[in-house]
Amino acid sequence: MHEGTGPVRFGVIGCADIAWRRTLPAMRAEHSVEIRAVASRDLGRAERFTGSFGGVAVNGYAELLKRDDLDAVYVPLPAALHAEWVERALQAGKHVLVEKPLTTRSRDTRRLIGLAEERGCLLLENMMFLHHPQHRQVDELVSGGAIGEVRSFLSTFTIPPRPPDDIRYRPDDGGGALVDTGVYPLRAALRFLGPRLRLVGAVLRVERARGVVVGGSVLLTDPGGVAAQLSFGMEHSYCTGYELRGDCGRLLLDRVFTPPPEHRPVVRIERQDRCEEIALSPGDQFANVVAFFAAAVRSDGGAAARDLSARNADSLRQAELVDDIRDGAEYVDVS
Ligand SMILES: NC(=O)c1ccc[n+]([C@@H]2O[C@H](COP(=O)([O-])OP(=O)(O)OC[C@H]3O[C@@H](n4cnc5c(N)ncnc54)[C@H](OP(=O)(O)O)[C@@H]3O)[C@@H](O)[C@H]2O)c1
Repeated sequence: MHEGTGPVRFGVIGCADIAWRRTLPAMRAEHSVEIRAVASRDLGRAERFTGSFGGVAVNGYAELLKRDDLDAVYVPLPAALHAEWVERALQAGKHVLVEKPLTTRSRDTRRLIGLAEERGCLLLENMMFLHHPQHRQVDELVSGGAIGEVRSFLSTFTIPPRPPDDIRYRPDDGGGALVDTGVYPLRAALRFLGPRLRLVGAVLRVERARGVVVGGSVLLTDPGGVAAQLSFGMEHSYCTGYELRGDCGRLLLDRVFTPPPEHRPVVRIERQDRCEEIALSPGDQFANVVAFFAAAVRSDGGAAARDLSARNADSLRQAELVDDIRDGAEYVDVS
């Protein structure tokens, strides 16, 4: 547990690609955080990480959780392992920042959010895109009447195929496009249309040979008939974006889920009689999420921690919709 105003002392569980490329560089640069220890199943890999980011290399995740010099842990493991290691970290009294998806089943997500509350620990699913300022600027444009009353929301996250041994193709490790890329447009829909969205229908494209979902499309609606049309997958060209359609125009934004800090977003607004492109502020969502989590830990139940608890309600709703899609979708064999 964190006490006082010093940096939040982090342990890292697993030497993942996302940790190397994005999260640990952001942690190293953030003054409110210190990387104290990095654990791997392979000590040499942990040493390579600590050589670049600092801290002590630890052999095995359980060893890391025994340390009493850590306030928090970061869990970037394959999705199916999140539930076990988040639970063990919370039982060890650590705050937890866990990669998306928080778990692969809503019952586990619900249980772990409850456990975090019981243990007085903070838990945050690392949905980094939510921490980019461009979405707040979109909110302002929409509430200022730029497209009129919102009628529907469209969003896509597709990526090209990954190497054959990638964790995303391993069903036992919680692989598959629904929990990997699908959760992004789902979460964006919840952010813009609210938690009362429910599933209308879905198609999941499955490679039977590997037993894994490689893409899909989803239709949701809110009680007023404002719909979300979402698509995702790992058999496409790279595309991430969203579009809000209103009764007198539409707003389009690209690169919404993984923009690098140097990206300069431009929103396009199309109306009957004119088109307009507006430059939005760049932002570093990787740094922002680390700073947000550290502020919540240091706030000791204050406003930042309450903000984080609202995020958990959305993480749970997202997990419920993932379950609904899995249960209600039409599965199409694309092998
Ligand atoms: N927020 C984002 O923008 C973002 C982006 C990409 C990925 N992610 C998420 O981050 C997580 C990791 O993704 P990644 O692409 O970085 O994965 P990755 O490079 O394959 O890393 C996963 C790590 O988990 C550990 N691990 C433990 N058991 C494993 C097993 N049975 N098989 C494979 N690895 C195992 C390994 O660490 P050791 O060998 O060191 O123990 C490995 O380095 C996923 O949940 C993914 O959804 C988030």
